[in-house]
Amino acid sequence: MLISPLADRNQKELCSVLCDVLEEQSHRELFALELGSGIGQHVVNFAMATQLSDIKEESRDSVRSYIAVTKVKTVLQPVHLDASEPWEKWAGLPRGACDVIVAINLLQCSSFDTVEGVVKGSGQILRQNGLLITHGPYAINGTITPSCMEDLDQELRQMNPGWGLPDIDILRQLAFGNGMRMERMIEREQDNKYLVYQDV
Ligand SMILES: C[S@@+](CC[C@H](N)C(=O)[O-])C[C@H]1O[C@@H](n2cnc3c(N)ncnc32)[C@H](O)[C@@H]1O
Repeated sequence: MLISPLADRNQKELCSVLCDVLEEQSHRELFALELGSGIGQHVVNFAMATQLSDIKEESRDSVRSYIAVTKVKTVLQPVHLDASEPWEKWAGLPRGACDVIVAINLLQCSSFDTVEGVVKGSGQILRQNGLLITHGPYAINGTITPSCMEDLDQELRQMNPGWGLPDIDILRQLAFGNGMRMERMIEREQDNKYLVYQDV
């Protein structure tokens, strides 16, 4: 079972934001999908903090170990899911299957195909009024602040020319074109933001 110090550091805040965003729906069981789960720390903590049921996520032995060690009952075994693929290939999930889709620190480490795929696929897999929540650093209308985030953007592009901070305005347009509305931006720390999109 792997441990990520960064994921560990983000954990409390991520769970608190997710609980706030989903508070109004806390009376019912929700079906959530985490995209790009990495080693699986987030998914088990989300499940324990929010009682979300049936969370699926990316395939990794580490995710399986987290499920086994924490004995969390509401997380399904990981599945392979490439978000750049058409939604019909998203692990066999039917249209309208999910109440919530979560993507933590995924978009900046992805090609534009994946960024577009996350929004397009979510527009199909979410039920009406369902929520997509993305977390990470973003550009706003072509501008990146503070300067350390510009450095991060450059570093990512050096690692892979297709990566880099996604622009919130482009995400808003993508959402609009795929039956969703970007309805909230939550800032808990200077460098990273949570974007909440609703399927309308
Ligand atoms: C920076 S890691 C973040 C991992 C985890 N969400 C976290 O916050 O610790 C980015 C993750 O995105 C995943 N990823 C990249 N492109 C993807 C795609 N097309 N579909 C699904 N996951 C993808 C990678 O495999 C990796 O697990």
